[in-house]
Amino acid sequence: MNKRKPIVAGNWKMHNTTVETHNLIKQIITKGKNLGENCEVIIAPPFTSIACAIEAVGGNYIQVAAQDLFWEDKGAFTGQISGPMIKEIGCSHVIIGHSERRQYFGETDESVNKKIDAAIRNNLIPIFCLGETLAEREADRTFEVMKRQLTMGLGSLVIPNALNFIVAYEPVWAIGTGKTASPEQAQEAHAFLRKELAVFRGEDFANKTRILYGGSVKPDNAKDLMECADIDGGLIGGASLKAEDFIGIIEQGTGI
Ligand code: PGA
Repeated sequence: MNKRKPIVAGNWKMHNTTVETHNLIKQIITKGKNLGENCEVIIAPPFTSIACAIEAVGGNYIQVAAQDLFWEDKGAFTGQISGPMIKEIGCSHVIIGHSERRQYFGETDESVNKKIDAAIRNNLIPIFCLGETLAEREADRTFEVMKRQLTMGLGSLVIPNALNFIVAYEPVWAIGTGKTASPEQAQEAHAFLRKELAVFRGEDFANKTRILYGGSVKPDNAKDLMECADIDGGLIGGASLKAEDFIGIIEQGTGI
């Protein structure tokens, strides 16, 4: 099996108040009517806008993700948000290990592992992000770094269903820089990740896992990237903040 249902997820990062969230979701729903037919569409607003996003989606095709979670379910952890809280409010997915969290907030392979565990325990689908920095790519360490992030992030966790597990390959040098990995570079990385997943978790698991590409995806490069055999969609930052661009990426990338 190699026809996996594509996923396009918008990572809004620290953008959009509740009013802005409502307006953007309504625009996406009004302008992009059949987007959910061949593709899973997810948006990840900031925590304070999640409730409003879920209301605005109103049972439509868009699913809502959180951008992070803490690995404990409750306790004295000032400022943290837990899996049960995210689940209760109505999220289906949670982004884990985004490079901005690794870079600015001390996220490590170990914390990523605990967070993936917390997501699975709480029936949330993790969107597990990994990818090399420019220095690592230039030092020819891309594959070694990806392998470390993948194997340490997953560790010995049992993931019951590959359909409820998503990997996002995001080369750090391509995030928010306008420099996209070429389709060849991205496909090479995705094929490597799928091969490693097969070694680690078996062929069937690897073949079912959706691996998204992230890093300066735009409507005009989405098709070439998402046509690659091992690229199953995109994790979109900047371009997910404009309804036309986000819809354009879904349309171009999935050929709707
Ligand atoms: P970008 O961000 O599309 O703005 O490069 C992608 C991401 O960080 O997920």
